[in-house]
Amino acid sequence: MKPRVLVCREVFDETLAILAEHFHVESNQGDQPFTATDLRQRLADKDGVLASTTDRIDGDVVAGATRLKVVANVGVGYNNLDVAALSARGIMVTNTPGVLTESVADHTMGLVIAACRRMGEAERLLRAGQWQRVYLKFMLGADVHGATLGIVGFGRIGQAVARRASGFGMKLLYSNRRRLPPAEEALHGAAYRGLHDLLRESDVVMLLVPYSAEVHYMIGAAELSLMKPTAVLVNVARGGIVDDAALIAALKARRIRAAALDVFENEPALNPDFLALDNAVLTPHIASASEPTRRAMADTAARNCIAALTGSTPPHLLNPEVLAQRTGA
Ligand code: DGY
Repeated sequence: MKPRVLVCREVFDETLAILAEHFHVESNQGDQPFTATDLRQRLADKDGVLASTTDRIDGDVVAGATRLKVVANVGVGYNNLDVAALSARGIMVTNTPGVLTESVADHTMGLVIAACRRMGEAERLLRAGQWQRVYLKFMLGADVHGATLGIVGFGRIGQAVARRASGFGMKLLYSNRRRLPPAEEALHGAAYRGLHDLLRESDVVMLLVPYSAEVHYMIGAAELSLMKPTAVLVNVARGGIVDDAALIAALKARRIRAAALDVFENEPALNPDFLALDNAVLTPHIASASEPTRRAMADTAARNCIAALTGSTPPHLLNPEVLAQRTGA
């Protein structure tokens, strides 16, 4: 009998077709995510699952999933998964790094430009029929070229943004858990700073760290108060890295110039106070959402799942220690 795989959220027909070559596939192609109870019930007889980054899969959800061998996340971030609990049960966990790097970097630069040059605010004004005159001091923004960009989290995506930003003539600072060797810093044209110095010196502060409990509220009122009053904060990483209430207070009081956000606490139910702020550019967690990239993410997750259930090592295995448990090594 073919292994059974659950697909938690809508994917492309091609993804389902690839999976169906190997598995009996049950998929949720509807608009609503599965609840924890749905997931618990549906996973009881499954060998694998393709999860989206909004599906919480923890020890509780897989408690009765005795056949489950792989959770293939469709996304690079995997803070929706309790990897320790899944590893303890010998369940492989995979993600989709690499394929979304360039698209996320494109979107992130778009947010920088939109926030600095007030694009959302200007478009809203124009659409509301409030554009009455052209004059010298109309809609003055900040320059992107020549500005100092501080990237917090200098992994694949941070480095892809750095490549774009140097084309804009931005000066680059970065902060990272691990400082890069001097040759790599020189290659990226980026100078290392501790977080507080980076916050003080940057015109644009960009958050690209993966979410973990350690970085929860990494940017709160105290950190925002270190930023220049003319600075812009960009978050495309995860909600919860920024204390949204503190950010809203800083934006309202113009303690910083603007923010550009693709991720929020408690999304999609973001704090409604953001909506009234002209100095906030808001996109609904779409940084990776170009069609080719979303296809590549779904395809990568499917291939991770196929490898895991056909005896190969998945290309993007996050917990290789479970292989030893599985082979009894
Ligand atoms: C990811 O891949 O982690 C992106 O945030 C899309 O969910």
